[in-house]
Amino acid sequence: MIGVRCAEQRDAHAAIDVVRRSIGHLCVADHHNDHETLTTWLANKTPHDFVRWLSNADNFCVVAESNDGLLGVGVLQRRGEILLFYLAPGAQRRGIGKKIHATLEAKAVQWGLASLHLDSTVLACHFYEALGYKPMGPPVPRFGVLRCFPYVKQL
Ligand SMILES: CC(C)(COP(=O)(O)OP(=O)(O)OC[C@H]1O[C@@H](n2cnc3c(N)ncnc32)[C@H](O)[C@@H]1OP(=O)(O)O)[C@@H](O)C(=O)NCCC(=O)NCCS
Repeated sequence: MIGVRCAEQRDAHAAIDVVRRSIGHLCVADHHNDHETLTTWLANKTPHDFVRWLSNADNFCVVAESNDGLLGVGVLQRRGEILLFYLAPGAQRRGIGKKIHATLEAKAVQWGLASLHLDSTVLACHFYEALGYKPMGPPVPRFGVLRCFPYVKQL
């Protein structure tokens, strides 16, 4: 059984481990194993940063948890941007992403937001499109070899 709940400080190490493994192993089509790109991408993915995100009242941070531990992390910012959305390698295509997203979307509705927006990885474009997101312009260079795919969803 997999549940989605609000993240807590005690999740910091496990959550960041999920995020770092997800970027390292699942987002190769984005970073192409380019050392500089990966280093920059991972630079602010530390337990310390996770606690900082949690302590910002404008962020809504959730984790997906199974009996075996954390399998996913999502962060929504009050202005409507999904800042972070990662599953652990091996946890994909079991509906966990959809569950995390539903929790973030419910919070967005509670906050009275009219839309959600985000910068997608290459891999996640199909996922977001399946959830009703529409592309919001061409891919945008980020850093290193990374390109982001802007998406928006009207609520
Ligand atoms: C993108 C990600 C969050 C999706 O989560 P997930 O749990 O695998 O997705 P779900 O199982 O909830 O999929 C929901 C629907 O999205 C679509 N979808 C998801 N992944 C897809 C893929 N790789 N290709 C095509 N469609 C996909 C499908 O329609 C799917 O429904 P179905 O399985 O019934 O066909 C996850 O794969 C992930 O963490 N990837 C690596 C990190 C990343 O790129 N994060 C995004 C940062 S912006």
